[in-house]
Amino acid sequence: MKFGDINKEDMQSMANGFPLMLGAVQPSESSLDAALDISRERKGGLCLIGMGGSAIAGELCKGLLNDSSPHPIICVKDYSLPHFVDSNWVVIAVSYSGNTEETISAFKHAQQRKCEIFTITSGGNLQELADPNTRTLLPGGFQPRAALPLILSVELLLLETMIGRTRTDLAPISKKLRLIAESWPVGVTPPDKLAKEMQGTIPLFMASGHLEAVAYRAKCQINENSKIASFHSVIPEANHNEIESLGWFNSMGVLPIFIRSEHENPRVSARFNATSEIYEDEGAKPIHLWHPKRTKIEELLIHTFYLDLVSVELANLTGADSVSVERIARLKRTLS
Ligand code: PA5
Repeated sequence: MKFGDINKEDMQSMANGFPLMLGAVQPSESSLDAALDISRERKGGLCLIGMGGSAIAGELCKGLLNDSSPHPIICVKDYSLPHFVDSNWVVIAVSYSGNTEETISAFKHAQQRKCEIFTITSGGNLQELADPNTRTLLPGGFQPRAALPLILSVELLLLETMIGRTRTDLAPISKKLRLIAESWPVGVTPPDKLAKEMQGTIPLFMASGHLEAVAYRAKCQINENSKIASFHSVIPEANHNEIESLGWFNSMGVLPIFIRSEHENPRVSARFNATSEIYEDEGAKPIHLWHPKRTKIEELLIHTFYLDLVSVELANLTGADSVSVERIARLKRTLS
């Protein structure tokens, strides 16, 4: 399968095409030059704006880069920007369609505040409003959530350049993702089998540290592709509140799915294990997902790819239309 073979009308094809999309686009040359200039300046911070499927790449990048970024990185999913985002901040505005009203509004706020703005879009109003020198255009026609690997390929490289880090070569990771999906390693439940285990449950994805956004992405994909209620939470915070609702898990059909990392803080590992024990004692059956022996970025992308596939398998099982997001579209029409 080649990039051009991905069927934009078919979520299975788009989900299978994740590895092919990864690294298939690069930030525009002029954007990279401007990002390099930023790495030589002292900036207040990096503000990533976008909604839904266009926001998630920013969240994933933040999880990966927070440990090494000299600048604060924040994600804003709203109409306006926090007060402290001033002319010394850099804004990256992402809207796949280019027409999302919250993103356009936040973009205009960034213009008013004279922030340096980069844009990533496939067209729409944002394409018109954007400075062509700091704009990267993506191939169009995908569902925004399926375009995640395209958006991430641009946003990650821009951010890495801005914070003075070596840019990740995504080609070898893309290859690994392709190979892993051809034959899931021993210890990894194939996506269709996990989907079967999840059928009839309310999946609760729990993660920690750099994988927090993976849990959020999985929840959103189950909502949008499988049309099933799903939630996410974060360890350690969930140990201080959510754990007390455990009594409801069985009656409500909540299935805790722990997205694990070999890079997690040892105290977090201890928490996951202790949490699992308590959940099991009360009849819940947590599932632990691992993709061992990977770097942080590989692990994050494999988990994301794998759970995207699970969301489509779950839609196949329940007969949900994994492409159409009619309610989101209706809401946008109503508000336009
Ligand atoms: O997955 C989706 O279709 C949505 O979550 C969209 O990403 C969201 O509505 C924002 O639209 P856009 O990504 O075009 O800015």
